[in-house]
Amino acid sequence: MAKDKIRVTDLARMKADHAPIAMLTAYDFPFARIFDRAGVDILLVGDSLGMVVQGAESTLPVTMTEVLYHLKLVARAREHALLVGDLPFMSYQVSLEQALRNAGRLIKEGGAEAVKLEGGVVMADTIRRLVEVDIPVMGHIGLTPQSIHRMGGHRVQGRRAGSGPGCRERLLEDAQAVEQAGAFALVLEGIPAELATEITERAAIPTIGIGAGPNCDGQVLVMHDVLGLTDGFRPRFAKPYANLWREATAAATSYIREVRERAFPADEHSFHVKGA
Ligand code: KIV
Repeated sequence: MAKDKIRVTDLARMKADHAPIAMLTAYDFPFARIFDRAGVDILLVGDSLGMVVQGAESTLPVTMTEVLYHLKLVARAREHALLVGDLPFMSYQVSLEQALRNAGRLIKEGGAEAVKLEGGVVMADTIRRLVEVDIPVMGHIGLTPQSIHRMGGHRVQGRRAGSGPGCRERLLEDAQAVEQAGAFALVLEGIPAELATEITERAAIPTIGIGAGPNCDGQVLVMHDVLGLTDGFRPRFAKPYANLWREATAAATSYIREVRERAFPADEHSFHVKGA
């Protein structure tokens, strides 16, 4: 079902055509191949890997080495989708030079075609500089998981009026700043649907929502939430389309039972000496 290769330049056309953009995270070859062949438009190797792959409590400990490792696995599987690599916490905030070096590594070593970074007005200069050297940037504002300590946890942003951090007017300014700095798309995470609609209507670049209601130009979800590969908490905005946790548990339980009962391996799973 995968069609022609998706490029950064296709996304603007998709917004103009009101063609919704489907984006998923992926962290390894098999799932990236499945999603790519299913026709997803954008694959993101997100720093969410810290939580869903590594079992950490936040995305903050994730390193460049780890993102690069997963990016390379996904890049091998990608044929159709645009591949975006996430810049982890403190890999771009220190200086423009640091941001350039690390964004460049995601493209040059990891095989990404674009990078994503969190932050609005404060990141505008960084986005501008990356775009100047032809590194396409996807912005990310609202509930930015790298800001959990400021936000006091993973909390919906933009519910309150005002121009302080996390307030409605600040988010409108952030969206405008990211667009004016040259980003090609903008992730809106954890904000009221009404605010996401307003940002989407004002923006010339596509918005990709996660917990931001139905009116964004596209949607993104973490693959573990889509596939039901989680044991505990599932965010309200995440719809499971399968229950792979249950399936995998059933498969492992059957395997263990069959080994213990000597029902596996059967003759068809065994090799024999020829002619014996
Ligand atoms: O890290 C990630 O997976 C993300 C998406 C949830 C947008 O940033």
